[in-house]
Amino acid sequence: MSGLFVTFEGIDGSGKSTQIEMLSSDLEKAGRPFVLIREPGGTEIGEKIRTILLDKANSKMHARTELLLYEAARAQIVEEKIRPALAEGKVVICDRFFDSTVAYQGYARGLGLEAVDFLNRWSTSGLTPDITFLFDLDERTAYGRRHGRGEEDRLEAEGLNFMKKVREGYLERSKEDRIRVIDAEETPELIYEKIKQAIWEVLGK
Ligand code: TMP
Repeated sequence: MSGLFVTFEGIDGSGKSTQIEMLSSDLEKAGRPFVLIREPGGTEIGEKIRTILLDKANSKMHARTELLLYEAARAQIVEEKIRPALAEGKVVICDRFFDSTVAYQGYARGLGLEAVDFLNRWSTSGLTPDITFLFDLDERTAYGRRHGRGEEDRLEAEGLNFMKKVREGYLERSKEDRIRVIDAEETPELIYEKIKQAIWEVLGK
């Protein structure tokens, strides 16, 4: 049985988490071994980096520092968790991966794609997801959904214009074959039908 690497992407509040929960529950029921991880984080070292990245007190953080910290957390999770799980034939579900860096740091922070694409390849030593679900949603709708979920983190606090650029950045990348754009305005049930179908199609092969 070969492993499958699935990533979920989208602006904050686009509804990824609900879908990840639904998929995990179905994989469990089907008895398919899987691991569920998130970025940044997912390892002991990565969770420490996550705390630094999302802490609103770190308002002085330079965009290049931010980029390198995301990549550092990624290098760790790829080696410690993702590659070993794939080698054991597991499904790896990752809540965000390097497309987040393209959209947030490359586009929204304006660091450009040359540096980001290079670092994404370097930190992962070339590992690319098999399937990426990109949840596309208007930034105002996403903001409304996030409202009431507790305090915003450092990235969420960047505001609507930032999230608009993130969304545009994601869509710029969405032409790649592995990326399936999901209309996140649809009901969770309809969205999940599409996700399940796509995953089961590949797993059934
Ligand atoms: P989340 O786990 O709540 O999605 O928080 C992670 C935040 O970090 C989210 O706002 C997106 C942001 N992020 C980046 O800016 N670049 C990245 O490479 C990743 C993985 C996340």
